[in-house]
Amino acid sequence: MGGVWLTAVLMLAFSSAVRSCPPSDLEALLAFKSALRDPDDGVLNSWTGTDCCRRWYGVSCDRNSGSVAEISLRAGPVYSTFEKPFRPQHMSGYISPEICKLSGLSSLIITDWKGISGEIPRCITSLSFLSIIDLSGNRIAGSLPPDMGSLGHLSLLSAADNLIGGEIPVSLTRLSGLMHLDLRNNKISGPIPQKLGRLQMLSRVLLSGNLISGPIPGSLCHIYRLVDLDLSNNHLSGPIPEALGRMAVLATLKLDRNRLSGSIPGTLLGSGISELNLSHNMLEGNIPDTFRGSCYFTLLDLSYNYLKGPLPASISSSSYIGYFDVSHNHLCGPIPITYSTTHPSSFSYNDCLCGKPLKPC
Ligand SMILES: *[C@@H]1O[C@H](CO)[C@@H](O)[C@H](O)[C@H]1NC(C)=O
Repeated sequence: MGGVWLTAVLMLAFSSAVRSCPPSDLEALLAFKSALRDPDDGVLNSWTGTDCCRRWYGVSCDRNSGSVAEISLRAGPVYSTFEKPFRPQHMSGYISPEICKLSGLSSLIITDWKGISGEIPRCITSLSFLSIIDLSGNRIAGSLPPDMGSLGHLSLLSAADNLIGGEIPVSLTRLSGLMHLDLRNNKISGPIPQKLGRLQMLSRVLLSGNLISGPIPGSLCHIYRLVDLDLSNNHLSGPIPEALGRMAVLATLKLDRNRLSGSIPGTLLGSGISELNLSHNMLEGNIPDTFRGSCYFTLLDLSYNYLKGPLPASISSSSYIGYFDVSHNHLCGPIPITYSTTHPSSFSYNDCLCGKPLKPC
């Protein structure tokens, strides 16, 4: 009886020890909290007391180890866990390096607070269990930590819509489990790491709205699972790799507003891509006559280039083209009948395209 009782007491002591917040984690979270200013007295209000694993908004702990595993602070949605529904919008301050003491952290999500500035703490790369980093929608500056590639479990890295500069760390090409890379709308310069294509788990690579220069690395075409590649609004130059049109599941390819030159690879137009935007580049030559019955474009935008020659005959064989734009080129010749009801602006500002919806030939 006594033995059973003792066991029960021990188990109780053990389980409550497991569930409560380790003192060092508590200290780190309080330091993290004190570096942020929350004018609406919103989410961080719940961060009081010593049990950070219970009722601290956005904090979750690992069931087994009891240490903090997740910080998830997203602005925007209505938080109904409070007494009254509340929609926090703004928070300023910075991400305290004390966060790096949360050695069990696997997920760090701090998004859309608009006012959080400062840099990503360099020491974040010591958090070896991190698999999700999402800091999008803040005012974070500085550069990405150069040794980010040491985060061997990272599957999602997003820092979109911030003020991050510097280059994409070459060490990222070691993150073999990375599935989602989103650095859109920052101030990142320099090249796309040549070996980014090593990352065979990647399905989305979103780098638009930066100052990235140099060529599109051919290695990207080897990423078997890549579905969404957005490199628009950068300073990329050189040709479009032909193999991009032979990728198994690539559905969205946005290369608009760059300095890409050479001709459009025929593979692209005969591919399974459904959204293709190549507008505002320096592409020249004819539009390849490689459309096929299997082509299904919800968006095909080739406007603002130096394309010449006729609209290819095969274009009428593609099963669907939704939004279509070849305006502002040097095309010449009759518009296929299939396009007679398309808005004329899709064809305007060319050398001598003719027929409906433009003037008769
Ligand atoms: C294609 O890209 C251009 C340039 O960035 C943009 O203005 C245009 O809206 C895009 N086309 C579509 C249909 O989204």
